[in-house]
Amino acid sequence: MAIARRKFDVVIVGAGGAGMRAALALSEAGLKVAVLSKVFPTRSHTVAAQGGIAASLGNVNEDNWHWHMYDTVKGSDYLGDQDAIEFMCRAAPEVVYELEHFGMPFDRLDSGKIYQRPFGGHMQDYGKTPVPRACAAADRTGHALLHTLYQQNVRANTNFFVEWMALDLIRDQDGDVLGVVAMEIETNEVMILQARATLFATGGAGRIFAASTNAYINTGDGLGMAARAGIPLEDMEFFQFHPTGVYGAGVLITEGVRGEGGYLVNKDGERFMQRYAPHAKDLASRDVVSRAMATEIKEGRGCGKDADHLLLKLDHLGADVINMRLPGIREIAIKFSQVDPINEPIPVVPTAHYMMGGIPTNYHGQVVAPYKTGPEDVVQGFYAVGECACVSVHGANRLGCNSLLDLVVFGRAAARQIIEDLKNNPHPKPLPADATDRPLARLARLEGQKNGERVAEVGDAMRKTMQTHCGVFRFPDLLAEGVSKIREVAERVKHTEITDKSRVFNTARVEALELDNLVEVAQATMTAAAAREESRGAHARDDFPERDDNKWLKHTLYFSEGRRLDYKPVRLKPLTVESFPPKPRVY
Ligand code: FUM
Repeated sequence: MAIARRKFDVVIVGAGGAGMRAALALSEAGLKVAVLSKVFPTRSHTVAAQGGIAASLGNVNEDNWHWHMYDTVKGSDYLGDQDAIEFMCRAAPEVVYELEHFGMPFDRLDSGKIYQRPFGGHMQDYGKTPVPRACAAADRTGHALLHTLYQQNVRANTNFFVEWMALDLIRDQDGDVLGVVAMEIETNEVMILQARATLFATGGAGRIFAASTNAYINTGDGLGMAARAGIPLEDMEFFQFHPTGVYGAGVLITEGVRGEGGYLVNKDGERFMQRYAPHAKDLASRDVVSRAMATEIKEGRGCGKDADHLLLKLDHLGADVINMRLPGIREIAIKFSQVDPINEPIPVVPTAHYMMGGIPTNYHGQVVAPYKTGPEDVVQGFYAVGECACVSVHGANRLGCNSLLDLVVFGRAAARQIIEDLKNNPHPKPLPADATDRPLARLARLEGQKNGERVAEVGDAMRKTMQTHCGVFRFPDLLAEGVSKIREVAERVKHTEITDKSRVFNTARVEALELDNLVEVAQATMTAAAAREESRGAHARDDFPERDDNKWLKHTLYFSEGRRLDYKPVRLKPLTVESFPPKPRVY
């Protein structure tokens, strides 16, 4: 049967903040833009971002982008590329004012300016004292941002393909990217979306772990597609654990709680962060706080009958502050922990939250990979932004609120680059004859598989393996075992069966296709983590407790074929200012 084909100037996969910011600029430039999303656009995971978007507006205390840049470099444990970090921090105030002018309903100070609250690792004067830098709409900043961008896209006539899943990239013999093959979830209809530019904004892959703050849709689809098409994945060993996921449920409790004055206590009621980060305390960066919490639990100072979590205390903030600044948190605590934080602390535990690695790009959103002339070529026609990309602005550990910023800065930058690139590329290249072979083979395997394992069982095995073998602290024996276990899981994925094809909305097939992507990400994460023999940012090795800049100040590249690793240098030179050389990182 002939497969339908539609042609666009730009196809964007993913309708979160990054995809929507890019789509808006591209549609406004008069290009024909398609945005594919597995869910209704305003249900993309950006909607779950709570505490704020970082920008050195200085609305509460003095601030500037140099301090923001320093904090981001330090937060990244010096693995971030300093050209990209300068680009992002300099652009931050402008993109926030742009959002304000698009109609985003930020909270206000008495002066009428945008409300800002402190967040972990954001400091004044090159690391001296916490500064309110998170521009917030209560504790629903992502919700406000996503709805604003969606409305602007509707106005700009962006074409949305809602409840469509991209299956695979189309690359021709030259390695150029010419679009995607996609499937409408409800009907199974497969279609070619041909484009002069293809932009991935598919978000993260937190669902490789058993306990995650991420939505069920965060299955690393962009990374799986890129890996299958021969593109390496960068720095996948760095996975952030957010200090405050709801114990037992994983739902995010924003760092904004600590920004407003909340703090963590152990079973003795001790405010233990003072011992681990004497200056920043509860507002140290996330890797530091998560490790401190894991240590408290390991050493027997955890709370509850199993001594396996800690408590986040905010009752002292008072009902007015909680109801005005943290209404969503109160609702989550009541629903998922059965505690009202106005009266009682919330049980919390470090929970998988954010993938610092991703598809390698430069700060124009162009995908950079071994290609026609060398290892760092720009792949023609292919761009990536947001959590699925590794620019790399977050290095080994992301600062809170820098993710919403990353989405809009690089979403806009990629759009600008695409507009330039398409001026020199007025016609689509012809599609290769094998454009649909891989995705159709994947679908056919699922149809034909008999007596296979259930997708949910194999997925659970993957999540359990990642949680046990690749957590906050990483141990050599567990990592080595984890590498072989996750390979076994990858083999099992090849023999899964869709046992319940009749389910409404075709979710069984989608879950099977998602597992292909998740397992690519899980293998990349475990393999890269086992190889990196140092501790840096979110990667904390029990057997190599120190950072080792001599051997390991470099980015990892994971190639799916042969599960091969390679490395490339960190870009330590910023665009216009002096570099921040690596030094010991204390808070
Ligand atoms: O804690 C939070 O509100 C999460 C923000 C972030 O991940 O940037």
